Amino acid sequence: MHLLLVRVLVLLSLAGLAEVAACGNPPPSATSIYQYANATFIENIFVLPSGYLLLSTFDTANLVALDPRVASPTVRNVVALGNTTGHTAVAALPNNLYAVAAGEHTPFGFVNNTMALYVVSITGAPPRGSVVTSIPVPGTMMMNGLAALPRRPYTVLSADSIAGRLLRINTITRQVDVAWTDAALGSGGNPDIPLGVNGLKIVGDWLYFTNSGQGTLARVRIDAEGNKVGSVQVITTLPTPATMANAYDDFDLDRCGNAYAALHPDKVVKIAPNGVQTVVAGNGTGPTLESPTAVKLALDGKSIYISTGGNFAGPTITGGQVLNLKLCSC
Ligand SMILES: *[C@@H]1O[C@H](CO)[C@@H](O)[C@H](O)[C@H]1NC(C)=O
Ligand SMILES: *[C@@H]1O[C@H](CO)[C@@H](O)[C@H](O)[C@H]1NC(C)=O
Ligand SMILES: *[C@@H]1O[C@H](CO)[C@@H](O)[C@H](O)[C@H]1NC(C)=O
Ligand SMILES: *[C@@H]1O[C@H](CO)[C@@H](O)[C@H](O)[C@H]1NC(C)=O
Repeated sequence: MHLLLVRVLVLLSLAGLAEVAACGNPPPSATSIYQYANATFIENIFVLPSGYLLLSTFDTANLVALDPRVASPTVRNVVALGNTTGHTAVAALPNNLYAVAAGEHTPFGFVNNTMALYVVSITGAPPRGSVVTSIPVPGTMMMNGLAALPRRPYTVLSADSIAGRLLRINTITRQVDVAWTDAALGSGGNPDIPLGVNGLKIVGDWLYFTNSGQGTLARVRIDAEGNKVGSVQVITTLPTPATMANAYDDFDLDRCGNAYAALHPDKVVKIAPNGVQTVVAGNGTGPTLESPTAVKLALDGKSIYISTGGNFAGPTITGGQVLNLKLCSC
C-alpha cells in the first residue's frame, strides 16, 4: 500500500511535469505574423484547407489572404465582393465554396438592406476566388458570426448582433429566415455595447456563441435545421460587466472543448469547459493586442491564429494584426 501510494504520487508528479514541460514556464507568448501599415481593421480570420489565412476587413470589397508559414507574408486579393465595404465572417460550404457576410459598413454596423451572403469559390495556393452568387439579406444591420449546419451543409446560421437573433440562409434555395430569437442572443440592454450574439461555432448538436453585451459564452442544442431544441446554458460570464473596454468578440474551440475568445481591448482568454477563464495572450505578455477581433484554430489544432482590428485613434496608426499562439494544454 505504501508502495502503491508512492507510485501514485510519482505518476501524479510526472503528469504535472509533463504538463509544465509541454506548456513551458512561462507558457508561450503570441508571435506576430503580419500587421497592416495602414488603418485596415481585420474583422475576422478563416483558415483555408491550404493553410492560407483568409482575412475579412472593413473598408474594401476585397477578401484577402496571406500565408502564415512564410517569414514575411504579404496580403493578396482573393476575390472582390461586389461594391461592399466590409466583410464579417466566413463559413465553409462543401466543394471549395465559402459563405461570406458582407455589406456597406458603418461604425458598429452596416447600412440597413445592404447586407448579403456571398457564396464564393476559392481554390489553389495562393488562393484565388470568384463570386458564385450573392443572396440579399434585407432588414439586418449586422450579420456577424457565421456557421454552416453540419447536416444541412449548404445552409448557414448568421448572428444578427444588433437585432439579437439568428438568421438562416439556405444558399441553394436562397431562402432567408429568422431561425430563432431568444433573450440570450440580445445585448441585454447593455448601455455601452448595443451588440448581443457575436461569434458562432457548431460542434455536433451544440451551437456555441459569444454575446458581447451580456459578456457570456453559452451553448444550446440545435436540430438539423438550426432550430433551438433546449434551453441556453451559460458556460461563463465575464467577472465584471461588459463594456467597450471589456467585451467578447469571436472565438473558436479546440478538440478538448476549451474556447479561446477575443476579449477587447487587448486580450485572448481561454475558457475551459467548466467556465474557468484565463488570459493566454495580451495583457502585457508578448506583442500588444490592439482590439482582438477573432480567433481560429490552426489546421493541426496545435495553435490559434488571432486577428485584431488595430488602433487608429492615436497620433500613430496601429494597423490590424495577425498573430499565432501555440497551445499547450490540449
Ligand atoms: C493598406 O495596405 C494594404 C496592404 O499593403 C493594401 O493592400 C491596401 O490597399 C491599403 N489600404 C489603403 C486604404 O491604402
Ligand atoms: C452596388 O451599389 C449599387 C448602389 O448602391 C447597388 O445598386 C448595386 O446593387 C451594388 N452592386 C453590387 C454588386 O453589390
Ligand atoms: C430596415 O429596412 C426594413 C425595410 O426595408 C425596415 O422594415 C426596417 O424597419 C429597417 N430597420 C431599421 C432598424 O431601420
Ligand atoms: C492583466 O494584467 C494586470 C497587470 O499585470 C493584472 O493585474 C491583471 O490581473 C491581468 N488581467 C487578467 C484578466 O489576468
